[in-house]
Amino acid sequence: MTRLVLITGASAGIGEEFARQYAARGWDVAMTARRADRLSALARELEDRHKINTLSIAHDLATDGAVDAILAEIAAAGRHVDGLVNNAGYGLPGTFFNTSWPDQAAFLQVLLTAPLELAHKLLPGMADRGYGRIINVASLAGFTPGANGHTLYGPVKAALIKFSESIQAEAEAAGRNINCTALCPGFTYSEFHDVNGTRAQTEEMPKWLWMQAEPVVEAGIEAVERGRPVVVPGGVNKGLATLTKLMPDPIARGLMRQQSSRFRKTEV
Ligand SMILES: NC(=O)c1ccc[n+]([C@@H]2O[C@H](COP(=O)([O-])OP(=O)(O)OC[C@H]3O[C@@H](n4cnc5c(N)ncnc54)[C@H](OP(=O)(O)O)[C@@H]3O)[C@@H](O)[C@H]2O)c1
Repeated sequence: MTRLVLITGASAGIGEEFARQYAARGWDVAMTARRADRLSALARELEDRHKINTLSIAHDLATDGAVDAILAEIAAAGRHVDGLVNNAGYGLPGTFFNTSWPDQAAFLQVLLTAPLELAHKLLPGMADRGYGRIINVASLAGFTPGANGHTLYGPVKAALIKFSESIQAEAEAAGRNINCTALCPGFTYSEFHDVNGTRAQTEEMPKWLWMQAEPVVEAGIEAVERGRPVVVPGGVNKGLATLTKLMPDPIARGLMRQQSSRFRKTEV
């Protein structure tokens, strides 16, 4: 049977590009996000262009039981998941003090708990079948010091990086042909900065800091195929990631404090 990849946040940006690239490689694609109309339109386009099968599953990952409902729809279609791309995400503007706990809890649910739950529920089947690919879309922010604003974004992305390293190590030890990669993009053209209200600020950032979604996704798929637990796409982003590691912590923290107003919002 043709392999099936489940992609969260496939209605826009990096997730949509994952759907396009997996479909072009001949994979069937199960796509989830809240905007059903976007998913259906993309599904029709990919089916026509690549003669693949798709599943469009509209759900809000912040709601209780969303992961089980998504997996139930896939099972009801008689399919199992060979690849998982944990991609859905957003930035929550504001500081920790001026945001509500329900908003922070929903953020943790969408960006951390749901990805971990999906991986936990899909890994046993992948191990039984002797094949699995998991890409967790993290961020350069997982390497840099905490910033003023969007407080939990960096911590959540750092957790996804460490989690991917662990899963890759555990899968290698088990010898079940399961690979897991944290994809760590820098600034990438998508709807991300429109949704979190930082578009006007980030438009001022130099163009050389930005990447299109296409090479970002290519780097993620290539890395997971090679069994690389972490990948930073693009030369500039690789340079920034290396610099962050080499820089003494106080200097990195000072730089982040000075620069974060260019891409974070502290007011809600
Ligand atoms: N763009 C960047 O500069 C950048 C840099 C580093 C990392 N990233 C990461 O890349 C990933 C994708 O972001 P993007 O840049 O492609 O942003 P995007 O264009 O805004 O796409 C975000 C996707 O996540 C989905 N999503 C958001 N909240 C959701 C929810 N509650 N339930 C289900 N789906 C939800 C959205 O779909 P619906 O609105 O239809 O639900 C959309 O498909 C994120 O994890 C982000 O942190 C982005």
